[in-house]
Amino acid sequence: RPRVLSGIQPTSDSFHLGNYLGALRNWVSMQQTHDCFYCVVDLHAITAGHDPETLRRRTRVSAAQLLAVGIDPQESTLFVQSHVPEHAQLAWVFSCITGFGEASRMTQFKDKSAKGGVDRSSVGLFTYPILQVADIVLYQADAVPVGEDQRQHVELSRDLSQRFNNTFGPVFTVPKPYIVKETAKIYDLQDPTAKMSKSASSPAGIIDLLDEPNRTAKKIRSAVTDTGREIVFDPENKPGVSNLLTIYAALSGRTIEDLTGAYDGKGYGDLKKDLAVVVSDALAPIQKATQGYLDDPAELDRVLAIGAGKAREVASATLAAAYDRIGFLPAV
Ligand code: TYM
Repeated sequence: RPRVLSGIQPTSDSFHLGNYLGALRNWVSMQQTHDCFYCVVDLHAITAGHDPETLRRRTRVSAAQLLAVGIDPQESTLFVQSHVPEHAQLAWVFSCITGFGEASRMTQFKDKSAKGGVDRSSVGLFTYPILQVADIVLYQADAVPVGEDQRQHVELSRDLSQRFNNTFGPVFTVPKPYIVKETAKIYDLQDPTAKMSKSASSPAGIIDLLDEPNRTAKKIRSAVTDTGREIVFDPENKPGVSNLLTIYAALSGRTIEDLTGAYDGKGYGDLKKDLAVVVSDALAPIQKATQGYLDDPAELDRVLAIGAGKAREVASATLAAAYDRIGFLPAV
């Protein structure tokens, strides 16, 4: 079976619909066809300042949500990144074959550092994509299921793994991004030209997986729609309605054509009312299951410890091969 690796940051108390539709749903379905490694990337979560207690809580909440959406720890290796020290170790090696200019061109760094200014950004935020490369190649991943915003980082992992292989000898599989076009970018409900983002969107622009049904309904009701009143899929001219249709289609399994046909002659209000029900129905079982996993933190930690053990077996073999090729003396 081909290998998969992907990761998600524990930087909020709930994942949002963009995370779910852009990435997590594909993580779940790939379990049928791939050998999957999924991690909660807590090392990445400390690059922009954090509170320790909050990080600990969010790491568990994140793992619980991954189990709740359908990551099966019997099928996949589910773990927390900091439990596997090889990630940080391999990241150092890759940082030594990455050009400074090359790292400077990462658009996510440019966006994130633009806010507070480069002088107030950590070196960790700068080298963040290199750690992500290590995450991916440690598991010899063939495919990396992510949303569109992570494409550049996966491309970097292709460049760097090829560079390592060409320089020191073949160690790493060169990975490919796995991005499902229809849901690769879910937009902010309040600003449908920007992506739904936990760091950049206002709370009203984000649907959290753990949002209560009436909160979800309110956010959908007040979603920015477009001029005119026709319900058509036209992302260029009608980004608001098109985003709602994308979410509707993805969660209901109906096609966009089917939906635009069904809402022909109806108004935005009808669409929003029905979508609120579709979203709450999809989220209810996830919320219930998340709570179930959080009610037993000892069991949750046990599942993660088993995952970390499985992950380390693969990661340590890859790291040893890389260290050898580089010319590090074996520690005997
Ligand atoms: P993160 O934690 O920001 O997001 C997790 C996943 O959700 C996707 N995503 C979206 N997809 C569609 N529409 C949106 N509005 C949207 N917002 C987020 C992201 O593309 C991502 O797939 N750097 C990564 C975490 C990471 C990683 C890795 C990913 C660390 N190591 C190794 C893959 C492989 C990140 O910050 O994702």
